[in-house]
Amino acid sequence: MTVLMSLLLGYVPLASAQPPFDVLHWWTSAGEKAAAEVLRRQLSDHGLEWADYPVRGGGGESAMAVLKARVIAGEPPSAAQIIGPNIRHWQALGFLQPLDHPLLAPQWLFEPVIDQLIRVEGEVVAVPVSIHRINWMWLNPRVFEQLDLPLPTTWSQLIELAPRFRAAGIVPLAHGNQAWQNATLFETLLLSLAGPEFYQRYFIHLEEQALFDDRVLDALILLRQLKTLMDDQMHQREWQQASQMVAEGRAAMQIMGDWVKGEFTAWGLEAGKDYLCLAVPGTNEQHLYSVDTFVLFSQQADPAQWRLFVESLIAEQTQVDFSLAKGTIPVRRQIAMDDFDDCARASDYVFRQASAEGRLAPSVAHSMATSPQAETAFHEIIHRFFMDERVTPETARSQLAQTLKALQ
Ligand code: BGC
Repeated sequence: MTVLMSLLLGYVPLASAQPPFDVLHWWTSAGEKAAAEVLRRQLSDHGLEWADYPVRGGGGESAMAVLKARVIAGEPPSAAQIIGPNIRHWQALGFLQPLDHPLLAPQWLFEPVIDQLIRVEGEVVAVPVSIHRINWMWLNPRVFEQLDLPLPTTWSQLIELAPRFRAAGIVPLAHGNQAWQNATLFETLLLSLAGPEFYQRYFIHLEEQALFDDRVLDALILLRQLKTLMDDQMHQREWQQASQMVAEGRAAMQIMGDWVKGEFTAWGLEAGKDYLCLAVPGTNEQHLYSVDTFVLFSQQADPAQWRLFVESLIAEQTQVDFSLAKGTIPVRRQIAMDDFDDCARASDYVFRQASAEGRLAPSVAHSMATSPQAETAFHEIIHRFFMDERVTPETARSQLAQTLKALQ
């Protein structure tokens, strides 16, 4: 890019070669890597070399553990993927670089829930990249056609299809039995059965009545029912391996966030043809979201570098290219969705609608709504319930209620 073009786009390229700028994140699958590559290339074009520091593990728990270890050792990275209210905790500890940049200043640039995530007491301390929708179901259209089965729009339809798939040697529901995947599935089921208003009363306001409501039992029971649609090879399977089962027709469906779409894109698959996306039953108009954000560590921050980092990530074209690779929608408002497929357009439409109507559902499994301690405890309770049939739904409901209240 020429200097003139850079100036027109509002960038100031770095004058000379800079020390490496290491970025800690948990994007290690094919689609995630392709998306990170969009950012790396964008920065590199402007003279900032992204030194990759990926930490394997969907959902980011391992990445957060490694980040803490590095900070305690006095060696924080230049930038890190930290998401949700956790950003505030890092800011309160004094580690984060304030991002006082005119591009991030206008509050109208993002929907209010996103502005609230990145701003602490008026000061911006994180750069958002894109928005995930989690309440998706990914289907292989070929297996439905071959067996002449309808696409399920209710839970009972979906459960009734299972024996037909099994008879054909196809796993009805691909899944990986990992704590974060089970928690992701449970929160999706709660949203599906109880709706966004209840979801907020339960997870955000922690209302006593909601915590002990029978709809929590219903979601736990449905989680156990869905387990019967999975295969017994699911232990420790990673989410992208489950996606691969769907892509290859070894499984019919997967319930998971739209990072799956990023994966399908990286494998050269096309939405509407090679795979289908359907909102999880009962959630057509709902948006269970997570937002990916980066922070910069003040100990490492060079003003020219962090400004360029902000400018690159927030630039319109980066927002589009990144989301096309990641399976997400751009975090900035008013970005044209012309280049996107129907899944992304649906996500965009529902996100803006739900935002305007105050019924967005922030993902707890993906760090959007609670403290990291509450999130870990939530993952563990659901995981134990999922693994051990002796734990009754009533017991799991009380454990969740007590823990969420105690660790809020
Ligand atoms: C992150 C995504 C990531 C997914 C699976 C989520 O918590 O927000 O960016 O692709 O985990 O690793």
